[in-house]
Amino acid sequence: MYNGLGGQVGNSIQALENDYPQFDFLGLSHKELDLREADKIDQLFEKYKPSFFLQIAAYTAVDKAETDIDDCRLINAISTNIIAKACKKHQVKMVYVSSDYVYHSTVGSPIKETDANEPKGVYAITKLEGEIAIQNNLDNYYIFRTSWVYDSFGQNFVNTMVRLGNKLDHLKIVSDQIGTPTYAPDIAKSIMEVVQQNIEKSVKHYGVYNLSNQSTTNWASFAEEIFVREKIQCEITGISTEEFGAKAPRPKWSVLDCTKIKLTFGIELPTWNESLQTCLDNRSKE
Ligand SMILES: NC(=O)c1ccc[n+]([C@@H]2O[C@H](COP(=O)([O-])OP(=O)(O)OC[C@H]3O[C@@H](n4cnc5c(N)ncnc54)[C@H](OP(=O)(O)O)[C@@H]3O)[C@@H](O)[C@H]2O)c1
Repeated sequence: MYNGLGGQVGNSIQALENDYPQFDFLGLSHKELDLREADKIDQLFEKYKPSFFLQIAAYTAVDKAETDIDDCRLINAISTNIIAKACKKHQVKMVYVSSDYVYHSTVGSPIKETDANEPKGVYAITKLEGEIAIQNNLDNYYIFRTSWVYDSFGQNFVNTMVRLGNKLDHLKIVSDQIGTPTYAPDIAKSIMEVVQQNIEKSVKHYGVYNLSNQSTTNWASFAEEIFVREKIQCEITGISTEEFGAKAPRPKWSVLDCTKIKLTFGIELPTWNESLQTCLDNRSKE
């Protein structure tokens, strides 16, 4: 059972359902389970008796969260605590998709799962609170910290750049945040690989894992790459995070060290450039 149906990662899980005929999937939309009323999960667990619950849905409007603190905390942290307790009661294993923002590291080397958590901003803090709620309640969980998520259809950086680049001659884009764009279907495949290894091969290794595509870029260079591949004529000027002035703080360094998931489950995602091309190819088919 998973939620977030309608979102980027949730839809990518749904797209994989046919690849796993041995599993019964039940995807929940926002309407079917509003995380503001997360205690309804109990009835759903009683009815469907899932072996896994994938908590993918979240309050993801990072800037809006700065002034919408209670709702963001209710959806990202309080609901996760309720769901984790229900998972314990019904012996359901839990997966939680978390964020690179829980680190907010200034270190110049790839961030390991054991590095300090110093989340800044409401969204980041509530994602870490969600993680802690799971760790306080459960032993059988996987937390996947991912970064800069996009897919071929959602409201994300790639689609925004294609739209704006085709309309405007010039764009100012932040160039001092370094990280790794991650393609939602790659995240979904990795989650399902871990779930499959857990159920079919008894490979457990519960815990926290970084999960991103490989190699690094910044937002301005990412946009340039999109424009080159889509043959879009639009000039880009790199600006600083401060000049852009988003409401919520953003980490300047979000490069995740994904060695742990590679050594534990043999999962190694493509480079962001390769997955960007896959995304653009899929986008043109839609
Ligand atoms: N996007 C990123 O760059 C990024 C980076 C790192 C980690 N993550 C994490 O990755 C996970 C998936 O992200 P995503 O990009 O797939 O998110 P997304 O596309 O923004 O989708 C979020 C999903 O959560 C649902 N949702 C929001 N409020 C809800 C509520 N009160 N009750 C139930 N469902 C609710 C949304 O439904 P509606 O659309 O119907 O409201 C949507 O299906 C999230 O946990 C996020 O924190 C994302």
